[in-house]
Amino acid sequence: VVADRDVLSLAGGLPATGTLPTDDVVDAVSRVVTRGAGALQYGPTEGEPELRRWIAQHELEGADPRDVVVTHGSQQALRLLVDALVDPGDTVVVERTSYVGMLQVLHPSGARLVDVGSDEHGMVTDELELLLASGLRPTLIYLAPTFQNPTGTVLSGERRRHLGRLAAQHGFVVVDDDPYRSLGFEEPPERLRDHVPADLAVTVGSFSKSIAPGLRVGWVHAPEWLTPALVRLKQSVDLHTGSLSQRLVLDLVERPGWCAARGARQRELHRARANALGASLDRHLGGIARCDAPRGGMFCWVRLDLLGADTDELLPLAIEHGVAVVPGSAFDPLGRPTPDARLCFATLDEAELDLAVARLGLAVEQLRTRRTAG
Ligand SMILES: Cc1ncc(COP(=O)(O)O)c(C=O)c1O
Repeated sequence: VVADRDVLSLAGGLPATGTLPTDDVVDAVSRVVTRGAGALQYGPTEGEPELRRWIAQHELEGADPRDVVVTHGSQQALRLLVDALVDPGDTVVVERTSYVGMLQVLHPSGARLVDVGSDEHGMVTDELELLLASGLRPTLIYLAPTFQNPTGTVLSGERRRHLGRLAAQHGFVVVDDDPYRSLGFEEPPERLRDHVPADLAVTVGSFSKSIAPGLRVGWVHAPEWLTPALVRLKQSVDLHTGSLSQRLVLDLVERPGWCAARGARQRELHRARANALGASLDRHLGGIARCDAPRGGMFCWVRLDLLGADTDELLPLAIEHGVAVVPGSAFDPLGRPTPDARLCFATLDEAELDLAVARLGLAVEQLRTRRTAG
């Protein structure tokens, strides 16, 4: 649907095409290819050693590079983790509103999914504590605690510490999926791994949002006992992540000041677009749409007053009006319909955002009229 030129998409999580670092990549390609044959050659399954070192130093504040595995996007890291850790029937805890890509990994794994509620401070860890006290024994708990996809929330410091204590007490693995860290409108919080026992802490990251998703370079930092299993699994899937992509990433991030300058430009653009989306929601859906102002990331999570209807019902009408959103059911572990929708503010410019929301307003009005008439 979103490839249709007549449909404005608020649905995908795509960086704005105009902001992709095209010239820098063109430049880097000839440099990394002429530097030696390595960029076009097979490489180690764990990833290019220098890139692993860079990630350990800059993304993980001095972690051991041997515990870092470079993956084909962070999505592959999520899949490898579930393949390595979860047997059918195992319990996995997720947020009640979770990243759809992880739900897609978990569903076929045969895991029993238990969802814990979230509020504006992220997962409600008191609710998790009650479940644990009543005998719940999860193998792992998955969350995206920093500018979450789809809700944009940030897990509070207090809850990060609480979760770490619960992991220590009950021995479950904590997976912190963290691709939006560099896209905050505020200082990013401490990493969850700082509060979780080292042998239970897994962090997943990505260069998709900070550089370009088409390069497909992500990474996972795992405890020493888990890394070899991830490497063996990855070897069976694709031998290694593309050498050229990895070397391009390294070339870009090692340029003095490059990451800082790019991050600043992205944050400025995203903040302006997030504000524009908020203003358009007020203009076209005032009193009907409710959302918290995003603190970072790429998404605005909107609750719509649809007079008892849900966004699964809204979606076909929205598409007829020429706008796509992702309905709340996509992020619910059990696929339950909700009156929420995820709107991406990063892809479209201000004028397109306003037009998209105006179209959404027409679809909402149509659905509400139907409900009133029915
Ligand atoms: C929370 C989260 N995790 C993982 C991914 C996967 O990203 P990639 O495979 O491009 O690194 C995404 C993509 O949108 C995401 O939002």
